[in-house]
Amino acid sequence: MKILGIETSCDETAAAVVEDGHTLLSSVVASSIDLHVAYGGVVPEIAARSHIESIIPVIKQALSDAGCAWSDVDGIAVTYGAGLGGSLLIGVLTARSLAIIKNKPLYGINHMEGHVYANFLTKTSLPGYVLPTQAPQFPMLALIVSGGHSQLVLFHGHFDYALLGQTQDDAVGEAFDKVAKILGLPYPGGPSIAKKALEGDPLVFDFPKAKLANPYDFSFSGLKTAVLRVAQRQIGADFTYPSPKLAERLSEAQKANIAASFQRMAVETLVDKTILAYKEFAPASVVIAGGVAASSELRHQLAERLPIPIAYTDSKLCTDNGAMIATLGCFKAKLNQPIADPYALDIQPNLSM
Ligand code: KG4
Ligand code: ZN
Repeated sequence: MKILGIETSCDETAAAVVEDGHTLLSSVVASSIDLHVAYGGVVPEIAARSHIESIIPVIKQALSDAGCAWSDVDGIAVTYGAGLGGSLLIGVLTARSLAIIKNKPLYGINHMEGHVYANFLTKTSLPGYVLPTQAPQFPMLALIVSGGHSQLVLFHGHFDYALLGQTQDDAVGEAFDKVAKILGLPYPGGPSIAKKALEGDPLVFDFPKAKLANPYDFSFSGLKTAVLRVAQRQIGADFTYPSPKLAERLSEAQKANIAASFQRMAVETLVDKTILAYKEFAPASVVIAGGVAASSELRHQLAERLPIPIAYTDSKLCTDNGAMIATLGCFKAKLNQPIADPYALDIQPNLSM
């Protein structure tokens, strides 16, 4: 069974073909990120416009890379939430039209649930991908960490899961992006903070960890503010000093130490909670998903502290892509999940797990 996956929830226009929920046949991602860098974050209007330009070529490329004609495609899976309204609309309307014209079943996919399914890909002949050799086993604990979400979810089986906790304010990726902005590092913040952190000492600053009533909930806005205060103090200014002007007065060494110390604490928070949940629920496997799952610091800290081995998927499958959407689409098709109405599937920008 071959499913075409379409993903347009943020700034990546992506399509991919996956076979049987385990084999990656193609994955094409066109990012409009270069157009957003000048603004220090994603501009929804620009993202939606570039989806319109890219979506048809991206889908065509995904089919051709997979060696698929439309007659080989068994279904279409598309992200319908959560995400930016204008961006989601382009993917959903394109998928709906294709499902009608090509007469294929349509599957609406929850973006965050999709991220988790990148971990089920175990085979590919595409060059440049390193995949786990085995699919995760249930019960499976998933740490889902991206630019819009931070959550711990316990999966008892496919489509049977419980949300253990989630962020009460900023997502962890958002914290990376905001701290990068304070330090004058380019968007997206995750990779640029990781790079700067290599030059710094992670023990120079001791940033706070938030304590919450539900130990599986997250809060990152306090950490972000603590970074701002440290940066202001480093240049000898008080808390009224405007954050956009800090970067030009911080030395490269100060920036590197702040980046390293922030990254250590943000990742340690994620790992603390994952270990706590592991101890309470004793899952058979643990997976990480979402853009921040590409973090080598997170991969390193988790592998060190988790009592069981953990397999990581290729970083290219952690940030937004069509393959994760197609993979979940395969499981929906295989396990007879409801098919979406191609005349009615609507976007849900605030969809949760
Ligand atoms: O999943 P994703 O591509 O889009 C959303 O659904 O939000 O995640 C994007 C987020 C951004 O906040 C970016 O800074 C973060 O993932 N990110 C990273 C790394 N690569 C991307 N964060 C930490 N370390 C990385 N290497
Ligand atoms: Zn995402």
